[in-house]
Amino acid sequence: MERIPEPGLLPRLADRSARIAIVGLGYVGLPLALTFCRRGGLAALGIDVDPEKARAIAAGRSYIRHVDAGAIAGAVRGGKLEATTDFARASGCHAVVICVPTPLTREREPDLSFVVGTGEALAPHLRPGHLVVLESTSYPGTTEEVLRPVLERGSGLVAGRDFLLAFSPEREDPGSGIATHTIPKVVGGMTPACLEAALALYASSFERVVPMSTPRAAEMTKLLENVFRSVNIALVNELKMLCHRMGIDLFEVIDAASTKPFGFMPFQPGPGLGGHCIPIDPFYLTWKAREFEFQTRFIELAGEINAAMPRYVVQRTMEALSDRGRALRGARVLVLGISYKRDVDDMRESPSVRIIELLQERGAEVVYHDPYVPRVPHMRQHRLDMVSVPLTDEALEGADVVLVATDHSTIDYARVVERARLVVDTRNACKGIRAGRDRIIQA
Ligand SMILES: NC(=O)c1ccc[n+]([C@@H]2O[C@H](COP(=O)([O-])OP(=O)(O)OC[C@H]3O[C@@H](n4cnc5c(N)ncnc54)[C@H](O)[C@@H]3O)[C@@H](O)[C@H]2O)c1
Repeated sequence: MERIPEPGLLPRLADRSARIAIVGLGYVGLPLALTFCRRGGLAALGIDVDPEKARAIAAGRSYIRHVDAGAIAGAVRGGKLEATTDFARASGCHAVVICVPTPLTREREPDLSFVVGTGEALAPHLRPGHLVVLESTSYPGTTEEVLRPVLERGSGLVAGRDFLLAFSPEREDPGSGIATHTIPKVVGGMTPACLEAALALYASSFERVVPMSTPRAAEMTKLLENVFRSVNIALVNELKMLCHRMGIDLFEVIDAASTKPFGFMPFQPGPGLGGHCIPIDPFYLTWKAREFEFQTRFIELAGEINAAMPRYVVQRTMEALSDRGRALRGARVLVLGISYKRDVDDMRESPSVRIIELLQERGAEVVYHDPYVPRVPHMRQHRLDMVSVPLTDEALEGADVVLVATDHSTIDYARVVERARLVVDTRNACKGIRAGRDRIIQA
């Protein structure tokens, strides 16, 4: 017989006295914690293994560019937000939401060590009545097959009977300006009571919740969303390469196709995929599919095409230089934009990094400018010891080629084209610029 154990989360949500622990205060966890405080009027306790994050929050500082420091400071002052490295403090909360990283291993297999590590750290502090929600993106089955046994083993409690367990995929779009609480929250609970509690938690702070039959279906929903993006981006990247050969401007074609009021959704080609999600998440599904003797061919093909794009950009750059009697070896290349997408400081999986490495391997002298990334941070699989150079006239005029890898909106591209000898544009950032058009090559 299923029962919702004490102390009930639901009455605590109703009178706004619930305390919510958020484990992992990164791009996902920090905005979520603020949403619970600001929209739901709930108290949020952030738990992170990184003590610097707890210190920053206590001081009202933001370490994520698009998260407002004032909002953090206000929530801390109002007694609604606190952060710690101490997992034992989760026992004083009514719900725990897990937002830790889910990367791939070197062999491109799911690395669930952060989820397992969090489960192990949390389990001794789990109490009857707790709701645990996993938000980290992973393959269908993770909540019940991976997290559940870790929590049960470490706590001696049983999911669905003593504590509540659910999955709710995170849908943050950093830098887009879309407020977290306006993005509908998909929720799948292990039992009807798990679902009811998780729906109530999110309904306290989000405009819309979307109940699902199981955690697995909710896990699959997130992967569908990301596979959909990866496959469609690969499609336009492939068409871009064809259009270059055919002398057609694909961006113009996409704009025209977008006028169709039904059945078409525009995706933009680029220098490859970046970020923590789209290049990684589809491979979680590929890996799980093997257990069912199933090969996810669309995902793998899209991955291949997208992963080859940095190489294609470098090839186009080499050809553009060669057309002007210049070799890539020894050429000075100024890369504009090194974060993975416009107006963010996030470098994870950024294709610019691979482009720079390929340029350097071919003997080019590379510098970069990025207003959001003053210095290339330490990365797990790359080592680029570089700092952003100022975007002076001398820097633009002194480069043999300026390669626009990320189209930050603060950059004056007309000036770039005016000063540069050659511009290789992977993002259509120079759209509409007439003067100096013959110096712009799309890649
Ligand atoms: N960033 C996005 O835009 C985005 C979008 C959709 C989904 N996601 C998913 O959300 C999850 C989190 O991503 P993110 O971008 O917030 O990652 P992140 O790297 O920005 O943040 C993760 C945080 O977790 C902390 N952490 C790591 N291990 C921990 C542990 N054992 N216990 C406590 N804290 C720990 C890290 O210190 C870090 O602060 C991932 O599964 C990701 O795929 C992210």
